[in-house]
Amino acid sequence: TRPMTLALARFVDFAVKGDEFGWLVALEGERNVSFPIKRAYYIFGTRPGVRRGKHAHRQLTQMMVCIAGRCTVLLDDGKASVEVELARNDRGLMLDRMIWHEMYDFSPDCVLLVLADNRYDEADYIRNYDVFKAACT
Ligand code: TYD
Repeated sequence: TRPMTLALARFVDFAVKGDEFGWLVALEGERNVSFPIKRAYYIFGTRPGVRRGKHAHRQLTQMMVCIAGRCTVLLDDGKASVEVELARNDRGLMLDRMIWHEMYDFSPDCVLLVLADNRYDEADYIRNYDVFKAACT
């Protein structure tokens, strides 16, 4: 994984609680997740060769955590793009608004948890890359 070069996306490392039972990570809105969490969804059972996402959000802020397995995420802020690997259950990827993102190379066991600061709203999506690029300038 190359170092993160996008201003609008960053990794956040979570504290891991370990005891004789095993491990636990807690995600709390406005604490280790910077925004108030209004929605959580998770992507799993992704079939080989699938590319998901391929959109940006006008307003939505999200955090992705690969809580099992691995996947790759392409991020593009309209100026530069970077490919990052998500393979840790103790590290979140913060995506501010207006970042084009695509997810692929999911391992069969991948569970990608996504936290969002708002409910699902199709009107918030930009699904056309040229429209995204134009909105960035
Ligand atoms: P989609 O946004 O296409 O997934 P991705 O961008 O990750 O490939 O969503 C897939 C389907 O799930 C689509 O019918 C919309 C629906 N959906 C919800 O109902 N609620 C949600 O919170 C999300 C993210 C998607």
